Amino acid sequence: MSAHAYFAGDWLALREPLDHASRDASLTTRAARALDTGPVAEKTIVDLGCGSGSNLRYLAPRLPGPQRWHLLDHDRTLLDAASAGNCRDRDGRRPAIETHETNLADTAWHRLLDDADLVTASALFDLVTADWVDSLADACAQRRLPALFVLSVDGAIDLQPSDPEDPRVLARLQAHQARDKSFGAALGTDAPRVVRQAFSRAGYAVHAADAVWVIDNAAQAAVATALVTGWRDAAIEQSPSEGDHISQWAERRCRQLRAGELRITVGHQDLFAMPRTR
Ligand SMILES: C[S@@+](CC[C@H](N)C(=O)[O-])C[C@H]1O[C@@H](n2cnc3c(N)ncnc32)[C@H](O)[C@@H]1O
Repeated sequence: MSAHAYFAGDWLALREPLDHASRDASLTTRAARALDTGPVAEKTIVDLGCGSGSNLRYLAPRLPGPQRWHLLDHDRTLLDAASAGNCRDRDGRRPAIETHETNLADTAWHRLLDDADLVTASALFDLVTADWVDSLADACAQRRLPALFVLSVDGAIDLQPSDPEDPRVLARLQAHQARDKSFGAALGTDAPRVVRQAFSRAGYAVHAADAVWVIDNAAQAAVATALVTGWRDAAIEQSPSEGDHISQWAERRCRQLRAGELRITVGHQDLFAMPRTR
């Protein structure tokens, strides 16, 4: 996925149903339990790289209220589109929402996390660096904050039936995922391991689970086509001299999608981290 397409609002809207269907429910339950025992009445939830609010729309009805969401992103257009939709919290109240235009590459954690009861992020960690994750883990540990980080790509992509060009395209895609996306050399598919290890080192009990996108029916044609063309664009950006092979691969794969003859799975990891009791 090219950097531009990766953040576009229409792509985020297309992927939202897949994201919500694949998330691990048991980790959300752990996050809800962590908030249930919190000391304050209103729960402040900080969503890093919130986009247009998909993570909020998934979590709000599953977490106790009242809730105040701090939605952080550097993209003003996405922030302006962010909303809870019709969501109510688990106790039937409308969540309060504040948007903050923030470049998360500047790790001013005291400003961002001081009021938080839970920190969360969705589809963010493949973009960041290992140092950034270490600094987030330390900042969370200092505040003894629970953390729920979901939908980090893990590189486990499968297309059935297979195509001789799959390995070439997926290798270029993986290399592209490691390019700088505004934080420095990106973690890409290393993100789940790096986040797990950083929070363990910072004194957290870490729970991880698979969150796999399964694309296997005609109703998903729009998101599937956007996914395959996004992979094509990223692979060509990574290796322009292979453009013809990669474009032909994408045409074949899109034809198969339209005919309902292609099944795609895309692996992600969800993670919930809770400070260990002292
Ligand atoms: C893949 S999108 C995920 C959006 C949202 N969390 C979701 O699940 O739909 C990654 C988000 O990170 C944001 N982002 C990327 N780099 C950023 C930075 N340096 N500071 C703040 N936000 C950033 C993008 O604007 C985008 O909204």
